[in-house]
Amino acid sequence: MRILFEEKEVISGEEVEKALAFSAEQVLRNLPEFTDKFQKAYSEDGFYQPIENNYWTTGFWTGEIWLSYEYMKEKNAKDAEGLRKAGDIQVESFLNRIDNKIEVDHHDMGFLYSPSCVAAYKLTGNEKGKEAAIKAADQLITRYHPVGEFIQAWGPMDAPENYRLIIDCLLNLPLLYWASEETGDNKYRDIAEKHIHTAIKNVIREDYSTWHTFFFDMQTGEPDHGATCQGYRDGSAWARGQAWGVYGCALAYKYTGRKEYITIFKNVAQYFLEHLPKDMVPFWDLEFTDGDDQPRDSSSASIAACGMLEMIKYMDEEEGTIYKKYARQMLKSLYDNYAVKDSGKSNGLVLHSTYSNHSPYNTCNHYGVDECNSWGDYFYMEALTRLHKDWNLYW
Ligand code: GLY
Repeated sequence: MRILFEEKEVISGEEVEKALAFSAEQVLRNLPEFTDKFQKAYSEDGFYQPIENNYWTTGFWTGEIWLSYEYMKEKNAKDAEGLRKAGDIQVESFLNRIDNKIEVDHHDMGFLYSPSCVAAYKLTGNEKGKEAAIKAADQLITRYHPVGEFIQAWGPMDAPENYRLIIDCLLNLPLLYWASEETGDNKYRDIAEKHIHTAIKNVIREDYSTWHTFFFDMQTGEPDHGATCQGYRDGSAWARGQAWGVYGCALAYKYTGRKEYITIFKNVAQYFLEHLPKDMVPFWDLEFTDGDDQPRDSSSASIAACGMLEMIKYMDEEEGTIYKKYARQMLKSLYDNYAVKDSGKSNGLVLHSTYSNHSPYNTCNHYGVDECNSWGDYFYMEALTRLHKDWNLYW
């Protein structure tokens, strides 16, 4: 593999500490408004508005509360207790959500329930968190198609236009491994394994760029075609899709132990790195680079950094050092030029992300462009936490 960005500076331990401290304090400042409510998926002019627990992204905010709780607890700060109470209130909301089936008919159960309820259970033994997360895993496996051997992302299960998986789903699957571990029932893990195999076989192209979504034939289950949804065009690599691929392959290896996923991880990561602009924070689609008048997606850099920091656990030291350096370089760039430093200007953590950008070749609406978003903030904190200590992951 070609080594890139050799001269680029890495984030120091002191900067990691400062960034984490600011992030946890920013989360604390937000608690009065966002304990009974959740952050909207993206900020508007730098500020998140409160929403009910009814969107696919709400688990990220709760995840930030738990990461802040971990940090404050380690410092023996009295604020840890307030964070724990807020996290517990949010877990109750997630239990209510799954019990009453509020906006849960889609595949994002992992994004919702891993950083919120699995985290609560792992960190504090919260039994409601465990109950909610197992119910969410039960919900997730209802979206499995045995013919195509994949979990369908969105929409009713009986329509050919919905018969597809999306690369993002790789992050929803750790919930299933966790559910098998907790219940002793392998049905969750078996489905996750089948989906991982189908996804990795089809969404990764020959050059290791990735499809955002991939369709199958409803009758035979045979692969049909790839298509973008949030990327610039069908054949391009949506930056966040590629980043979900980086982290997704690392998690796929963690949970399956299949050696071939290490090689795939390296190639997917290499494609991501080769298509970064000079400051290592991608534009919203990897088609674009320095000089293009296009918005960035800073969340992709944090997601890819988390994937690299996970994968180095399974590499020899020499190889691991390479990916750790990339992660530290991306974090340095995010910290210096993208992270919020003044809570009067934003109630988020990282600016310049893109949720959904319209292009002449996609069907997306324009929202959350060049703003903070909830997962961008969460994965920035996760990456910092991974650099700060040996982190027991929520995924
Ligand atoms: N999983 C949807 C997104 O990354 O925007």
